[in-house]
Amino acid sequence: MEFRRRSYFPAEAITLLLLLNQVANATINKHPCNFPAIFNFGDSNSDTGGLSAAFGQAGAPHGESFFHGPAGRYCDGRLVIDFIAQSFRLPLLSAFLDALGSNFTHGANFATAGSTIRPQNTTLHQSGFSPFSLNVQWYQFNDFHRRVRTIRDEDDGVFRRLVPKVEDFSRGLYTFDIGQNDLTAGLFLNLTVDQVRASVPDIVGQFKTVIKDIYDQGGRSFWIHNTGPFGCLPYVMARQLITAGQVDKYGCVGPFNELAQFFNHRLKETVDQLREDLPKAAITYVDIYSVKYALITQATRYGFVHPLRACCGHGGKYNFNLHIGCGGKVKINGKDILVAKACEDPAVMINWDGIHYTQAANKWIFDQIVNGSFSDPPIPIGLACHKQF
Ligand SMILES: *[C@@H]1O[C@H](CO)[C@@H](O)[C@H](O)[C@H]1NC(C)=O
Ligand SMILES: *[C@@H]1O[C@H](CO)[C@@H](O)[C@H](O)[C@H]1NC(C)=O
Ligand SMILES: *[C@@H]1O[C@H](CO)[C@@H](O)[C@H](O)[C@H]1NC(C)=O
Ligand SMILES: *[C@@H]1O[C@H](CO)[C@@H](O)[C@H](O)[C@H]1NC(C)=O
Repeated sequence: MEFRRRSYFPAEAITLLLLLNQVANATINKHPCNFPAIFNFGDSNSDTGGLSAAFGQAGAPHGESFFHGPAGRYCDGRLVIDFIAQSFRLPLLSAFLDALGSNFTHGANFATAGSTIRPQNTTLHQSGFSPFSLNVQWYQFNDFHRRVRTIRDEDDGVFRRLVPKVEDFSRGLYTFDIGQNDLTAGLFLNLTVDQVRASVPDIVGQFKTVIKDIYDQGGRSFWIHNTGPFGCLPYVMARQLITAGQVDKYGCVGPFNELAQFFNHRLKETVDQLREDLPKAAITYVDIYSVKYALITQATRYGFVHPLRACCGHGGKYNFNLHIGCGGKVKINGKDILVAKACEDPAVMINWDGIHYTQAANKWIFDQIVNGSFSDPPIPIGLACHKQF
């Protein structure tokens, strides 16, 4: 009241204008990039339906906490990429491989569970790794981009309302979360940690090629997750690859986590190199490893319990059985009995099914990374387009 009465005084009017301006800026600047689309590449950490479309749906109880049924994700609910999309008020990403019900207006997801950067020499059936390795995801992206340009040229094609605008390919955010399976694939083939380590330069080299190609097609904003501490995941620990003395004080396999960090080191060097090679690109490297490791090793502090146990699984120290996955049944007296059920409260668990994180963990991880505290450069995701200002 007081203020309104005297608001004709120029000094105060100016103060008010400045203040309003600041508030307006703060609101707009929360997400100054305003990405119209997200194009994601990766493995199960960010698969929103790709592997399910190609090889059969990830069944119940996957999806139960948020989608109330299977939703193409290996999780009880949303993944980090879902929280990223929601933070930009974009719809959740459709999987590129999903033929029905998909809408790619605000981007597409090329990730599939089990994907590696390098193509594998084994089939999905033999080893569990996806044939949609990063180079294949790139072929798909390439074709998608080419066809969108054609579709957008047509006046009234039915697909116009299902694809991004052509300019959104340069204005969009390109996200990556891939590499973990390249390392585990080697270990599961009984290669030693040193042998897998020796393959890392080739792995990050192939990653680099894909980023360069996307840049050549106009991509400018890249958000790259490093790989997590897979030595703390039941599916790795339960394989009896562990020998005594390799388990750290938190119960994780030290040499595997060191391998993950070795990969991350090389990935970071690759990102530095890419920044030099691609001057118009804003490339953000996100240290997912540290976030996940903090969560697992200080679970109680962050409100979680049993960091090394799967919520949905069956038996053993980790509630995980390689042969009876989440939702798995066994025949007892001729009847199929569900033995690998979800736990009572996934909201306090970190590990969902022995391989993947719960929605609650994903939300926590997203909350840590969104403001840039784990990024290089340390800028929030809303500024991940900073080279375009
Ligand atoms: C697959 O085999 C080829 C030919 O031997 C080899 O060059 C390549 O590195 C192998 N890929 C992987 C992922 O092991
Ligand atoms: C796809 O989504 C966009 C944006 O959410 C919407 O405008 C468009 O109508 C949708 N397309 C169809 C065919 O429903
Ligand atoms: C790796 O070694 C284990 C234990 O010796 C063996 O059971 C398994 O078949 C081997 N895996 C491969 C792919 O050779
Ligand atoms: C980022 O967010 C996390 C989680 O909310 C918080 O702990 C951290 O202090 C924030 N960092 C900065 C730099 O704002």
